[in-house]
Amino acid sequence: MRTASRRLASTAASLLMTPLRLDDFVELVNPLWSSRQLWGRVEAVRPETTDAATLTIRPGRGWREHRAGQYVGTAVRVAGVWRQRAYSVSSAPGRPDGCFEITVKAVAGGRVSGQLVYGVMPGTVVRLDSPTGEFVLPQTVPERILFLTAGSGITPVMSMLRDLALRDAMPDVVLLHSARSRADVIFGAELRGLADRCASLRLHERHTRPGGDAARPADRERPPLAELLAACPDWSRRSTWACGPSGLLAEAETLWREAGVADRLRVERFRPAIADVDAGAAVGGTVHFTRSGRRVATDAGTPLLAAGESAGVLMPSGCRMGICRTCVSRLGAGRVRDLRTGVEHGEAGDYIQTCVSAAAGDVDIDL
Ligand SMILES: Cc1cc2nc3c(=O)[nH]c(=O)nc-3n(C[C@H](O)[C@H](O)[C@H](O)COP(=O)(O)OP(=O)(O)OC[C@H]3O[C@@H](n4cnc5c(N)ncnc54)[C@H](O)[C@@H]3O)c2cc1C
Ligand code: FES
Repeated sequence: MRTASRRLASTAASLLMTPLRLDDFVELVNPLWSSRQLWGRVEAVRPETTDAATLTIRPGRGWREHRAGQYVGTAVRVAGVWRQRAYSVSSAPGRPDGCFEITVKAVAGGRVSGQLVYGVMPGTVVRLDSPTGEFVLPQTVPERILFLTAGSGITPVMSMLRDLALRDAMPDVVLLHSARSRADVIFGAELRGLADRCASLRLHERHTRPGGDAARPADRERPPLAELLAACPDWSRRSTWACGPSGLLAEAETLWREAGVADRLRVERFRPAIADVDAGAAVGGTVHFTRSGRRVATDAGTPLLAAGESAGVLMPSGCRMGICRTCVSRLGAGRVRDLRTGVEHGEAGDYIQTCVSAAAGDVDIDL
């Protein structure tokens, strides 16, 4: 009854305030109360390493609790333009304060990650999507787990480890983690403390620049997978979750497939796996965004999403790697190349994913 009268009052107020809706005013007072868009407010920013930081975010109305391992579409204003990227939730589900955390590593030349690590203050309002993703533990947690991570790939696994530790449900876990140096291990102190306290968690760190000096040549930027797995001889009998650079994940997929245990490996990619294409044969073209009237010349390796953004076109996007389909747009003319497979396809009227499609000649997009 109380809900019905509240809804009536809200509708009446909306009508009186036409053409502005009640939600427009609500958003002005406190965006977190909006029922139209999910917002979040950054409550704290905590440096983790020299180039990574954790943001504590208080989500607004409509937020649904994440499952450990899932990611959240997060948009922040950069030079007046909202830019969205996906970030794994690094905190455990069910925090008593209702907040959640993401941990971002600044990518050189990146438009959003640098802003989140170095340019965001407590009080900043960000746009959020609901948590999503399949990189999660099953309801019945396997008895033996291998987590294979590198760099910022630790973030979804950190949420799982924190969750397991809080529930006092840590099974037999091996965590093989690779980073440039001890100081570059995101959550390093917490991981080492957890492994000290929890007998069933074994942590093996591999440092590629042990001195931590960026000017020094690396021992190896990425250790061969076989070298990492030497610390876990029963890897093929464990349920494995892997998150890290594309090369590491591709190598793991091959190894697990060849060992006949591909079904025991789940991977989370932060960037799409790009197919090798003969650079001489592949051509780009001029992309014409027909609704906005913008045109941009682009090469055969640049996603149409990035080309459009660089030309100032408002491009819908979510995961930016071919999973969520938020970026699907209508092809007006021309053909595109799927960057994941290298295959050319498309005809006028087809719907394409702009985040994993590049121009294969001149192209019209209905945006
Ligand atoms: C499911 C999912 C979960 C993710 N979780 C996290 C997370 O927890 N923490 C985190 O830091 N990032 C995470 N990412 C990556 C994140 O979404 C962004 O891609 C990353 O922050 C770079 O964005 P940017 O705007 O700074 O770079 P852009 O401006 O988009 O790109 C700038 C340059 O950096 C390159 N680049 C883009 N992404 C990466 C990358 N991940 N590594 C190296 N080079 C890159 C691009 O090719 C380009 O050359 C996740 C991505 C996905 C799909
Ligand atoms: S942005 Fe998610 S599929 Fe393209």
